[in-house]
Amino acid sequence: MQESIQTDVQTTEQTYLTVQGAEVPALGFGTYHLPDDQVYDAVSTALDVGYRHIDTAMGYDNEIDVGRAIRDSGVPREDLWVTTKLLGYREVLFHDNMMDATRNRLEQLDLEYLDLLLIHWWDGASDMATVLEYMSELVEEGLVRHIGVSNFSLEELQEAVRVSPVPIFTNQIEYHAYLDRSEMLAFCRANDVLLTAYSPLGQGLVVGDAVLSEIGARYGKTAAQVAIRWLLQQEGVSTIPRSANPKHIRANFDVMDFELTRDEIRRIDELEGPLMYRLNREGGAIYELRGALGPVVPDFLRERLVSVGGRVARLVG
Ligand SMILES: NC(=O)c1ccc[n+]([C@@H]2O[C@H](COP(=O)([O-])OP(=O)(O)OC[C@H]3O[C@@H](n4cnc5c(N)ncnc54)[C@H](OP(=O)(O)O)[C@@H]3O)[C@@H](O)[C@H]2O)c1
Repeated sequence: MQESIQTDVQTTEQTYLTVQGAEVPALGFGTYHLPDDQVYDAVSTALDVGYRHIDTAMGYDNEIDVGRAIRDSGVPREDLWVTTKLLGYREVLFHDNMMDATRNRLEQLDLEYLDLLLIHWWDGASDMATVLEYMSELVEEGLVRHIGVSNFSLEELQEAVRVSPVPIFTNQIEYHAYLDRSEMLAFCRANDVLLTAYSPLGQGLVVGDAVLSEIGARYGKTAAQVAIRWLLQQEGVSTIPRSANPKHIRANFDVMDFELTRDEIRRIDELEGPLMYRLNREGGAIYELRGALGPVVPDFLRERLVSVGGRVARLVG
């Protein structure tokens, strides 16, 4: 299933990954944090440019506009891959609530089925086998084609794969040039689980990176395009950059006509990102705070965290 898509930048080939026998467009479009009044236009532009994979969530509160853009685009439903997510709160994961919440997703998106339904994060309190059993009912009923998870740790994903009655299609996690995900990726590859890389641009953090810019200059590409290309060249990785800017939406899709060399990939693998960022993400501060505050750590706290040795050491500012 390959198609040539005419854009006003150039003709670009969408590439597909085969996961558990299904074909999923490797490059999707993310919709988190898009201003309310820009969701419809952004998704419409993305579909016009050639994106055929759209990522949204119950928690983004934008599914009605995403659905309108899909409907108005005229793109046949069977050519599209639509992913949404259920909030990971325990009460959403009770049987009847999950059934209602999923029907509500379909209603808001104005779709008859979802290609992929994820649990947005794991609350740690529910019984995983039971929750995944409920999700498998959604597959049996034909409301959902595939089920998956998001923000699952390696241990949580291993458990999900072990206990789920239907295959776990993906773990959608933060992954970009400043984060090492090799352990998770190895497990995903060994188990035919797609790794969906969210925040592929580090929410804008990587677009000014000197190494990515230097590599990009060789191909007439930007650092952002190199960051996306680096993900797409990895076996079993899909990614879903977000933008409200039509120029960026087009540019982020225009990444199929160059190939990073092994040496360039190695240089990007070795990037580490700013110290503060690493301390927040890898030092465990965010995870520890989530344990204390619940899954949603407010941005203003996130930015001010400093951890040492995996413990939240202090807030800055
Ligand atoms: N499962 C989860 O918990 C989870 C969490 C986070 C994200 N996600 C998903 O992943 C998607 C993408 O991640 P994200 O939204 O966090 O961040 P991202 O895609 O890494 O970065 C988006 C930011 O990069 C900027 N940008 C985009 N293209 C650019 C370009 N070519 N040049 C320069 N700047 C550019 C955007 O600004 P402009 O609008 O100005 O272009 C925006 O500020 C989300 O939208 C969502 O669908 C999932």
